[in-house]
Amino acid sequence: MAYTSLSIVDRGASVFLSYSIVSGKHQKRGLHKRMVKVREAYARRKGICVALTYTTKDNSKSWQNLVKMGYRIYDPVFAYVGREYFYFQKKL
Ligand SMILES: CC(C)(COP(=O)(O)OP(=O)(O)OC[C@H]1O[C@@H](n2cnc3c(N)ncnc32)[C@H](O)[C@@H]1OP(=O)(O)O)[C@@H](O)C(=O)NCCC(=O)NCCS
Repeated sequence: MAYTSLSIVDRGASVFLSYSIVSGKHQKRGLHKRMVKVREAYARRKGICVALTYTTKDNSKSWQNLVKMGYRIYDPVFAYVGREYFYFQKKL
């Protein structure tokens, strides 16, 4: 129905929000938003105050949601998946 994951990166200074998938008939019910919030809450409990992620530029469902939730596009020094992606960060 829905799956997500997270990694702690930057020597414990940031969380990286990795995969999020919500199966077709369960989409548009706020599950993605909830999965972002749960991971942010986990990071705060660990004392981590930056969340990072990326999306493909054509994945408007995903990046619109991130923007609505306070994520900002940034230009990373090292574009770890390539320059054809949007990179996002949020101070928690
Ligand atoms: C992207 C994805 C995770 C969104 O999951 P979701 O549970 O449907 O998202 P939500 O219900 O939390 O939607 C919240 C916001 O996302 C955006 N959104 C979701 N579905 C959308 C759609 N069909 N069209 C446009 N925007 C959409 C909207 O901004 C929405 O905000 P709103 O509630 O104010 O309208 C889901 O579509 C998916 O699994 N897609 C395939 C995998 C993928 O692209 N994963 C992300 C990259 S790892």
